[in-house]
Amino acid sequence: MNDKELQKEIVYLKNKQNVTILAHYYQSIEIQNIADYLGGSLELSKIAKEESDSEYIIFAGVDFMAETASILNQDKRVLLPNPESCCPMAAYLDAEMVREYKKTHPGLPVVTYVNSTAEVKAESDVCCTSANAVRVVKRIAKEFDVNSVLFGPDSNLADYAEQKSGIKCIKMPEEGHCYVHSQISVDDFKRSRDLIKDGLVLVHPECIREVRELADFVGSTAQMYDRVKNSKIEEDNFIIGTEEGLIKRIAEDFPDKHIYPIREKLICYNMKKHTLELIKYVLENLDDPMFEVKVPSEIAEKAIFPLKKMLQIS
Ligand code: 13P
Ligand code: SF4
Repeated sequence: MNDKELQKEIVYLKNKQNVTILAHYYQSIEIQNIADYLGGSLELSKIAKEESDSEYIIFAGVDFMAETASILNQDKRVLLPNPESCCPMAAYLDAEMVREYKKTHPGLPVVTYVNSTAEVKAESDVCCTSANAVRVVKRIAKEFDVNSVLFGPDSNLADYAEQKSGIKCIKMPEEGHCYVHSQISVDDFKRSRDLIKDGLVLVHPECIREVRELADFVGSTAQMYDRVKNSKIEEDNFIIGTEEGLIKRIAEDFPDKHIYPIREKLICYNMKKHTLELIKYVLENLDDPMFEVKVPSEIAEKAIFPLKKMLQIS
């Protein structure tokens, strides 16, 4: 089957069985185009919480996104088309490490990026995404009446949240990072700006500080999308510093703008493990336990609090 035929079959099967498909912007355009909801982590977790119509959610994203959907919507079956699609950043921090940080920093709240395991979330006071990290840090520091928080696992997002909030974000651990965004260098910035002189540079907060400080705009995937969507008529050229799935989406949705990647081949191979063939297969085998993402109830019961707190703050 070619892509068009696969897409047609997927839409038929999901409608017939009342399945909802959520997809992150870093999926291939072919998968993005068959999703019921497409978005960044924050929007997708809100949808996962509110989604009430269907018994099954197929999540075309990485494992922490599917786990979050399952924790927030425990009466749904959440399915990950490729069970190996995980975010390597989450592996920088485990629950035991968080317990140690808490012991050495008593009284400080724990803020964890949603790109973390369910066990880590269960040890946290509040979660955040790249879209709301600054607001979450400010709010939780005020609530605990402190000037520092523990923050993990992304050290670049911790640094960004600290710069913007004025609250010290102690990194759990120092070295946590995203292998896709941390490739973007000052040289990439300079090279692309030399080529497109009036190009507005939009980057993700997972980029290193030196790149963020040169950029015209720093934001989550959805915030970058909205920045282009709401741009002034004379803002023609955009240089985007994130995974290519979002860059392709923006280029397709706003054909009157010129969209350039800050660097070629910014690919999250973990996100790209899902395929149309796999999604079709899952739709034909909805009850195959291989695809179901289920967080053990004793973990889910704890992890739901920091997630709900994040959603209240957002
Ligand atoms: P957003 O929260 O901006 O959608 O990004 C998720 C992610 O994994 C970034 O690498
Ligand atoms: Fe994880 Fe980076 Fe991929 Fe996002 S882009 S899912 S942070 S590895």
